[in-house]
Amino acid sequence: MTMASNDRWQRVAARAEIKHGEALARELGGEPIALTEIDGQIYAISDTCTHEFALLSQGFLEAGEIECPLHAARFDVRTGRCLAGPAMQDLEVFEVKIEGDDVYVRKILRNGG
Ligand code: FES
Repeated sequence: MTMASNDRWQRVAARAEIKHGEALARELGGEPIALTEIDGQIYAISDTCTHEFALLSQGFLEAGEIECPLHAARFDVRTGRCLAGPAMQDLEVFEVKIEGDDVYVRKILRNGG
């Protein structure tokens, strides 16, 4: 088994698999991520709630916000921002690019340290 590096572009889905109003669960280098579509734009966030362990893709998605299925924390799927507790921390967001019908995702590279 090989370890995939999260900072390289990886194809995670076909564009057509990402349906409006639904979060598609995928993995990036073994990490659960959730893909969503808002106004024709694709977004990728960490699928793991920052409160306890729950997959956000199993929660409720509406108007660009995803609600955790466990204790109802809410996050903005575009920015990863935590909008309502009990979670306090924002979600990691990933870079997305579309090539034809393929959706690629990678970790956002940060400068410096
Ligand atoms: S696990 Fe998501 S709000 Fe508690």
